[in-house]
Amino acid sequence: MAQLIINADVTKGKIDRNIYGHFAEHLGRCVYEGIWVGEDSPIPNIEGMRTDVIEALRKLKVPVLRWPGGCFADAYLWKDGIGPKESRKRMVNIHWGGLVENNHFGTHEFLRFCELIGAEPYISGNVGSGTVREMAEWVEYMTFDGESPMANWRRENGRDEPWKLKYFGVGNESWGCGGDMRPEYYSDLYRHYAAYVRNFGGSKIFKIACGAGSYEYGWTDTVMSMAGKYMDGLSLHHYTLPTSVWADKGSSTEFDERLWFKTLQQTIEMDTIIEKHSTIMSKYDPEKRVALIVDEWGTWYNVEPGTNPGFLYQQNTLRDALVAGINLNIFHKHNDRVKMANIAQIVNVLQSVILTEGGRMLLTPTYHVMEMYNVHQDALLVDSTLISPAYESEGDKLDQISASVSVNENNVMHISLCNLHHADGAEVRIDIRGRQAESVQATALTSEEMNAHNTFDEPDAVAPSAFTDFRLERNELIVKLPAKSVVVLAVR
Ligand code: AHR
Repeated sequence: MAQLIINADVTKGKIDRNIYGHFAEHLGRCVYEGIWVGEDSPIPNIEGMRTDVIEALRKLKVPVLRWPGGCFADAYLWKDGIGPKESRKRMVNIHWGGLVENNHFGTHEFLRFCELIGAEPYISGNVGSGTVREMAEWVEYMTFDGESPMANWRRENGRDEPWKLKYFGVGNESWGCGGDMRPEYYSDLYRHYAAYVRNFGGSKIFKIACGAGSYEYGWTDTVMSMAGKYMDGLSLHHYTLPTSVWADKGSSTEFDERLWFKTLQQTIEMDTIIEKHSTIMSKYDPEKRVALIVDEWGTWYNVEPGTNPGFLYQQNTLRDALVAGINLNIFHKHNDRVKMANIAQIVNVLQSVILTEGGRMLLTPTYHVMEMYNVHQDALLVDSTLISPAYESEGDKLDQISASVSVNENNVMHISLCNLHHADGAEVRIDIRGRQAESVQATALTSEEMNAHNTFDEPDAVAPSAFTDFRLERNELIVKLPAKSVVVLAVR
C-alpha cells in the first residue's frame, strides 16, 4: 500500500505551463509531412500545414514550440527560408540523413504554425556556423516594428506587423553537434551573440544559453560562472535510453519486464540530474533568477525496422506514457527552477505525441498523458508527501508510485499518479488535509500489454477512459491503481 499525504492549504508556486512544451526539428518526417505538406497537397491543410495535426495540437494545449533544432539549428541559415518558395535555396541536412532541405518551411511558416496551434514560439539561433550579424538580423526581421532593412524585408515578404517573440536560444548542444566547444569558449561566444539579441518595440526576449547534456555538471558550473548573469535560462538535455548503450538502445515495441524496469529507472534519473544542475546554478544564482529549460527530453530507441536511421522514427507504447507521466511529475516538483521543458519531438521523431503516415494520423499514448496532465498547466503545486512501496527487479529498486498534486484557479485539485509496476496493481491511500473533498472524477490510461500502442489501423488501442476504482471515505481517498497505469484525479 502507498500513502500520499496532501497538505491542500500549502502551495509551492506555479507549475509553468511551458513545462508542457514541445520541440520540432527539421529532422526526418517531423516538419516535412508531420507539419508541412504544402498548399497543393491532397492532405487537408491550412496554408500548407496539415489540419489534423493543428487540431490535435490545439486540443493538447501546446504552450510553446521550439524550432528549427536541435543540431539542425546550428546549420540553419534563416535567410534561405524566406521569400517566394520557388526561389528559396536548397541545402543539405548534414545532421539528419543528408537529405535535401528545400526551405519551404521557414520563419513565416513556423510563426504562423505557432499562431494556428496557439503556442509561443521558441527560436533556436545558430551559433555553430552562423554569424553574430545573422542572428541579430533574424531577431530584427521578426520583431522590429519601425523602419529598418530587416523589418522592410519582412513586409515585402507579406508580414506587416512584427511577431511577438519571447524565447530565443543561443546555440544548441554547443559541446557537441553545435560546435564541439569547451564551456569557456562557449561562454564568451554566448555573451557576444546574446548581446546582439536585442529587444525591440517593448519586447523582452528571454535568452536561453546552451546547457549541459545529462550528467555534464562541469559545463553548467563554467557557463554559469562566466555567463550566468547574461542569461534568463540555461538548457538541459536528457534522453531516456532503455539499455544506456548508444549503438543498441533497444526496440520501441519489443521489450521484456527487465527493459521496462530499466527504462523507468533511467527516466527517473531526471530528478537527480535536475537537482544537481540546479544546485550548481544556485552557487551563482541563489535567487533562482535563471531558469532551467529542459528543452530536449524523452525516450530514444532504435529506429523502426526498415526506416531511415537518420529519421529517428520510433513507435510509442504504454511504456512511453509512463515515461511522460513520471517526467512531468518530476518537472512539477522542481517548479522553482524548471520553467520550461520540451519533449522531443512533436511529430514522427523520437517520443512523439503524433505519428503520421501519408494522410493518416494517430495520437500516441504520450499524447494522451500530456492531455490528461494539462490540467496542471499554470496551477499551483500543492505540498504532498508520498510513501511508496518498492518496485524491484533483479536487485534494483524504484518507488512503485510517482505522484504530483496541484490546485487550479477554480480551486479544483488534480492528482496525477503513475503506477510503474509492470504486473502489480497498487492501493494508494490519499489523506487530504486542509480542504474538504466533495467529489472526485478520474481518467486512466492503461492496457493489458506493456508494449500496447496505437497503429494506423487501430489508432485507439491505447486511449484514456473514465476511471472509477476509488472511494472517498471522509477525507481519505482510496485509489486502486491498475498495473502500469497513469491516472489523473480531479477533486472538488
Ligand atoms: O532530438 C534529436 C537530437 O538530439 C537533437 O537534434 C540534438 O539537439 C540532440 O542531440
